[in-house]
Amino acid sequence: MPTNVSPTPKLDLPVRPRRLRRTAALRALVQETSVGAADLIAPLFVVEGRAAPEEIASMPGQFRLSVPDLVKECRTLWKLGVKGVALFPKLDPKLKDAEGTEELNEDGLILRAVRAVKKAVPELVVITDVALDPYANHGHDGVLNTEGDDVDNDRTVARLAAMAVRQARAGVDFVAPSDMMDGRVGAIRAALDAAGFCETAILAYAVKFNSAYYGPFRDAVGSAQAAGTKLLSKATYQLNPANRREALAEALLDEDEGADILMVKPAGAYLDIIRDVRERSDKPLAAYQVSGEYAQIHAAARLGWLNLERTRDESLLAIKRAGADLILTYFAKDVAAALAK
Ligand code: PBG
Repeated sequence: MPTNVSPTPKLDLPVRPRRLRRTAALRALVQETSVGAADLIAPLFVVEGRAAPEEIASMPGQFRLSVPDLVKECRTLWKLGVKGVALFPKLDPKLKDAEGTEELNEDGLILRAVRAVKKAVPELVVITDVALDPYANHGHDGVLNTEGDDVDNDRTVARLAAMAVRQARAGVDFVAPSDMMDGRVGAIRAALDAAGFCETAILAYAVKFNSAYYGPFRDAVGSAQAAGTKLLSKATYQLNPANRREALAEALLDEDEGADILMVKPAGAYLDIIRDVRERSDKPLAAYQVSGEYAQIHAAARLGWLNLERTRDESLLAIKRAGADLILTYFAKDVAAALAK
């Protein structure tokens, strides 16, 4: 350094936030939020038969699994420290009809999958969706009214309550109503209790928005193809993405009706809602980082525009920081594996 240059005088700054960012160890000590494997739940797709895992085009690294492969995947997840899985069936289109009749089958795909997973990894928390979309040829979450122009709320609630009891009998830890019908949480709680399943818990998709981010999931379970349109609208039951007060009211209603865990879905675009629910309810709060959020990060990474791991980790951290205790995410396995290294 040339000797004739005088050093820059130090600013008179008593508060220098950068002091705590100087080294990795300091940064770790003051880190406020972290994501661990035990915070994550892996959604998994199951299909009939023994075919090799079939990758879902719009969800790189996610597969439709046969029951034996599903069991293997669950063992791997458990070893990595993931405590829960949410199972979704992809049915043969031939089994679908307007009433979702295949759901009544006591030996149906999802119930067999639950029994197999529970037998192999009894401690793993198993969650199943309560909604008729995988079974209905119209792709809606419930059965339709006589005009066929909307779901029939009350008739759907009766179906869902019976569906939840079937899932409880198969051994699930949580039933997860994802349908957004009015009154379904209360009806499911009453039906579970009446059938002797007072230990089976309800993870309520309390705040589920009518979101474009579910697109890849509908490919995965074939509910959009069932409807013959990618624009299948669930606007008469899922929440308007513009509404914050209504979202909170929905969450509190599900709490009143007996939900054990409340969930907000999607997650990344609804961090304000996660925070609102966190502040107004003492129930554990889940958030679902949905298929479109996963697809978006993967697509940008494929183009070389975003770093996959860093974006993934930041997206999950943001959801935790907003107030979620647990996160359903298709990244669960990758994150748990990265943390285990
Ligand atoms: C339907 C259901 C959906 C998802 C979970 N359960 C989609 C929908 O409402 O059409 C979406 C999950 C995702 O996008 O990852 N009952």
